[in-house]
Amino acid sequence: MQNNVLILDFGSQYTQLIARRVRELNIYCEIHPYNKIPTTLVDFKAVILSGSPSSVRNEEAPIPDLSKIRGHKPLLAVCYGAQYLAHFSGGKVAPSATREYGRANLSYVAENTTFLEGVSVGSQVWMSHSDTIKSLPTGGKLLASTNDVENAAYEIEGEQTYAIQFHPEVYHSTDGKKILDNFLTKIAEITPDWTPDHFVDTTVAELKAKIGEEKVVLGLSGGVDSSVAAVLLHKAIGKNLHCIFVNNGLLRKDEFGKVLKQYEGMGLNVKGVDASARFLDALKGESDPEGKRKIIGRVFIEVFDDEANQITNAKWLAQGTIYPDVIESVSVNGGPSATIKSHHNVGGLPDFMKLQIVEPLRSLFKDEVRRVGASMGLDPELLGRHPFPGPGLGIRILGDITAEKVRILQEVDAIFIDGLKEAGLYDAVWQAGAMLLPVNSVGVMGDERTYEKCVALRAVESTDGMTADWVNLPYEFLQKTSNAIINRVKGVNRVVYDISSKPPATIEWE
Ligand code: XMP
Repeated sequence: MQNNVLILDFGSQYTQLIARRVRELNIYCEIHPYNKIPTTLVDFKAVILSGSPSSVRNEEAPIPDLSKIRGHKPLLAVCYGAQYLAHFSGGKVAPSATREYGRANLSYVAENTTFLEGVSVGSQVWMSHSDTIKSLPTGGKLLASTNDVENAAYEIEGEQTYAIQFHPEVYHSTDGKKILDNFLTKIAEITPDWTPDHFVDTTVAELKAKIGEEKVVLGLSGGVDSSVAAVLLHKAIGKNLHCIFVNNGLLRKDEFGKVLKQYEGMGLNVKGVDASARFLDALKGESDPEGKRKIIGRVFIEVFDDEANQITNAKWLAQGTIYPDVIESVSVNGGPSATIKSHHNVGGLPDFMKLQIVEPLRSLFKDEVRRVGASMGLDPELLGRHPFPGPGLGIRILGDITAEKVRILQEVDAIFIDGLKEAGLYDAVWQAGAMLLPVNSVGVMGDERTYEKCVALRAVESTDGMTADWVNLPYEFLQKTSNAIINRVKGVNRVVYDISSKPPATIEWE
């Protein structure tokens, strides 16, 4: 890939944000751990060093070999990166008298520099560091200061090397994006040509070359990622893409039929497989959340295998893997620290299938997937869908699962979600759904005592599902929804609204 930027990750919480900002400038970039620098660098037109929780003064500090990069490629070092360059090249780094976090303003900006073109004294920058650069490295020339941090930005003369102590990637650095733009388009002279249309054209060409006349199998879920992956592959190989859409009986109300029709309308070669009974049968009596996930995952693989085996000569399995999944598995710290929930219900296919994997979205962030989908004309409603877990309502019915419980929850969920859409609230919410609690409570309806189920409604805002907060839905809306649920769904006499954030709660109840 031409016009590619290499971001070396030293474990900063902001590394992904650097990539986001670069992509927003329509420039492609990849994150690689500092200890796994790609062996061939020809495709990279510039390199950015991220921040890090480490200190250059510690023995375990990340110390990459930059000999093939420094002086050869335009280099931008951020925070730890800036300290790293200073510390190992004749400068001095020491603990700050006070830890420097948050807002600061530039008090000095060197004149006539391309790097800081358009940035002026007073510009707000965001600091997050506990060491500070006391003296610049050999060849260093000061470019900017704040009141507390003298060496806030510098360049190394004779190289295209720039360093900044603050974080240009966070929104609170008001000119951060301008600085990245100056570095990438003016100093590294990269053409910002990485647009959704460009991505579609190059990916379709790559898929055609890679797959040729061979057949590909893809599992559709009704979600954004698998749908966009399917449309890309369909553009590349047409009818050789065989999609399988499995109804596990735990989808939203009427979802299977509606979505299947939509897929057919998009011209996809798709087979709908209603395996509801098989899933419900296998789940009988299981009430442990992880147990249910395992059963749903296993049955899915069995059903998928049966179907895929009917497609003679399939050579490839396509997956809707996106970039955050990829980064997570190669990150400096080796991904998530502990398994809270085993989210990946499709944990790989049995060996005998021996299919090669193709993942056309593995370089994209979620919103980029949506932009790519939009540029290919996918239905905005499909693209704007809330995330929905693979095990579906199976992890929203607390305890064991029966057909009757699924029916109740589908009705409740449909009233809630349709209500959000009608009230114009759906797009303001990241994810919403209802949970069927294993609790019966006493109620009274028309002079009769009832002893029925309780449901909890949950609506959260989030950007990636890692952290989330409950949404302050209007009381009027909650009142209307609760009335509609209790009046229309037989078996429910109580509705509660979940006001827990993640952490300490999680989004799903199981
Ligand atoms: P939690 O409940 O961990 O959920 O806060 C975070 C996001 O992940 C989804 N989720 C799942 N997705 N299989 C999936 O495909 C699962 O087993 C699973 N569990 C949770 C959840 O809906 C939310 O978007």
